Amino acid sequence: MYKKVLETVKFLEEKGINNLDYGIVLGTGLGSLVSIIDVELKIPYSEIPNFPVSTVEGHSGTLIFGKLSGKNVLAMQGRFHYYEGWTLQQATFPIRVMKFLGIERIIVSNASGGVNSNFKVGEIMLINDHINMMPEHPLRGENDKRFGQRFVDMHEPYNLKMLETMQNVADNNNIKVHQGVYLALQGPTFETPAEYRMVRNMGADTVGMSTVPEVIVAKHMNMDCLGISVITDLGLEGKVEEVSHEAVQEAAKTAEKDVCKLVEEFVLKN
Ligand code: HPA
Repeated sequence: MYKKVLETVKFLEEKGINNLDYGIVLGTGLGSLVSIIDVELKIPYSEIPNFPVSTVEGHSGTLIFGKLSGKNVLAMQGRFHYYEGWTLQQATFPIRVMKFLGIERIIVSNASGGVNSNFKVGEIMLINDHINMMPEHPLRGENDKRFGQRFVDMHEPYNLKMLETMQNVADNNNIKVHQGVYLALQGPTFETPAEYRMVRNMGADTVGMSTVPEVIVAKHMNMDCLGISVITDLGLEGKVEEVSHEAVQEAAKTAEKDVCKLVEEFVLKN
């Protein structure tokens, strides 16, 4: 994998991608974050050597290089999920590439189901911790020291400074945000009422099908992570309703303007 990462990095550097300040992963329905990026380059994943190609609607599969609030960012419009059939090593390959392009800080976003009764659809949660319940682990197998250590410290999966800064940005802009724990399941089924209950009993506030493998791989390489989750449906006791990908995308859209504002202001400050 190391050789493949370097090959992809070389390809992107030759396109003029360098001096990066942030990597950004855009989740379901949050693709329009791109609208606030001064785009310099747009590269479809299919043209990038070794990149997987995403198959999910609403995840268009383009790497975007440009300026956001004056900083150089590399944004993934479209991410890779375990349920698509990728191994978690494949799904997190772009995070490896980001690191070797010189990125030390990433912002990851997703849509999630809320299981905390204080949460409402369309609200935003800053992820302050996660629970990994994916059936696979991106670091399983022989460890390559060129990426990081065998046993990875996870005492601060989401960088506390970044979290505090983002909370301040939200407060200053009157954007309501929660903080809480995101639990990752494999999907692609949404949860049954009993599964939502399990998620809540495990100590999580939201549940989704992504992000955690990316953060694990980022931490393996000692990167700092900020996680933003948009609550698109609720898995509350006695109130679990029908949910669809379309409904999730629609609900994510309602928060899009606020998420854009948060990220824009956050990047400006750092
Ligand atoms: N469960 C899992 N993934 C999700 C959900 C959910 O309720 N909502 C958006 N992504």
